Amino acid sequence: MSDGKLVLSEELKSFLLSLPDLDFELLLSSYQSSLPESFRINTLKVSHEKALELLSEEGFSFIKIPWLRDGYYVKPEGLLSHTIWYKLGLVYIQGAVSMLASELLDVSPGHKVLDLCAAPGSKATHIGQLLGGRGVIVANDVSTSRVKALASNLQRCGVLNSVITQWDGRIFGRRLRGYFDRVLLDAPCSALGIISKDWGVGRRWRERVSLTHSKLQKGLIISAYDCLKPGGYMIYATCTLHPLENEEVVMHLLNSRQDARLCRISVEGLNYSNGLMEWGNRRYHGDMAYCIRVYPYHSGSEGFFFAKLRKEVGGGEEA
Ligand SMILES: C[S@@+](CC[C@H](N)C(=O)[O-])C[C@H]1O[C@@H](n2cnc3c(N)ncnc32)[C@H](O)[C@@H]1O
Repeated sequence: MSDGKLVLSEELKSFLLSLPDLDFELLLSSYQSSLPESFRINTLKVSHEKALELLSEEGFSFIKIPWLRDGYYVKPEGLLSHTIWYKLGLVYIQGAVSMLASELLDVSPGHKVLDLCAAPGSKATHIGQLLGGRGVIVANDVSTSRVKALASNLQRCGVLNSVITQWDGRIFGRRLRGYFDRVLLDAPCSALGIISKDWGVGRRWRERVSLTHSKLQKGLIISAYDCLKPGGYMIYATCTLHPLENEEVVMHLLNSRQDARLCRISVEGLNYSNGLMEWGNRRYHGDMAYCIRVYPYHSGSEGFFFAKLRKEVGGGEEA
């Protein structure tokens, strides 16, 4: 949240009003509230009981986040990152909905996992903990400065079975085709789900911002999918609300790869809307309702879109 008055561009207002399932007034008021601080216990390093005991001794109190395995809200806010337990990687500060991405990926110890846009590593460190030290997480990002933060977070969290790469994610599908059991694509996006963190996003947004992201996301989703083994699963996630960056990108994959199937996402303890089957004059695949749209007012936290896809065994391969 910033000081002053929240201003949304006229273009953004008319886009938001075009979303059939969105409550505009609730969204405006959630954009004006600060996000609650939440964290994840890094079970690679410590049990829940021990972590909560250590933090309680320092005066913190917690509420378990109902839809997550390892996530908690914490009070007082703004102090957790100063503790020795944070610096040692026992806990990781992360948004309450952002943590869903890695959980939805159904990672098991021993899996080979790719995180195509991984920096600064919130989800890669989470995947590392779900792997429990077995298998491998390949954490890639194109940005030099952000890769430094990624390396530092993986090291702090003790994810030893990690490999860091710095490639444009769009080339992965050609280099590591069919190699991974699980792929996460947490794509760069227009960030309309986290305007409460930066009101400037709402002031600056124009449709061309989403159009430019959409083009990049379409390249990334094909590359991410091509890296999957037959029978493997991927999660496509963004922290934005725009169908051009969400349903449209998933449609691009479904139209380009005949063996791609949408899987139903269901999350207990969290409110959300389903993926859109139509928006304006556009029509999307009927299974798009299997995707979820979490608006900021659903969770009191960030807005996100999640799609889960499976590569069918024995499906045809396109060039
Ligand atoms: C939403 S952020 C990822 C956040 C990260 N998954 C996490 O949980 O900490 C998107 C990332 O995509 C990266 N990115 C942008 N274009 C890319 C590309 N062509 N290839 C790979 N990464 C890219 C950005 O540098 C940025 O770090």
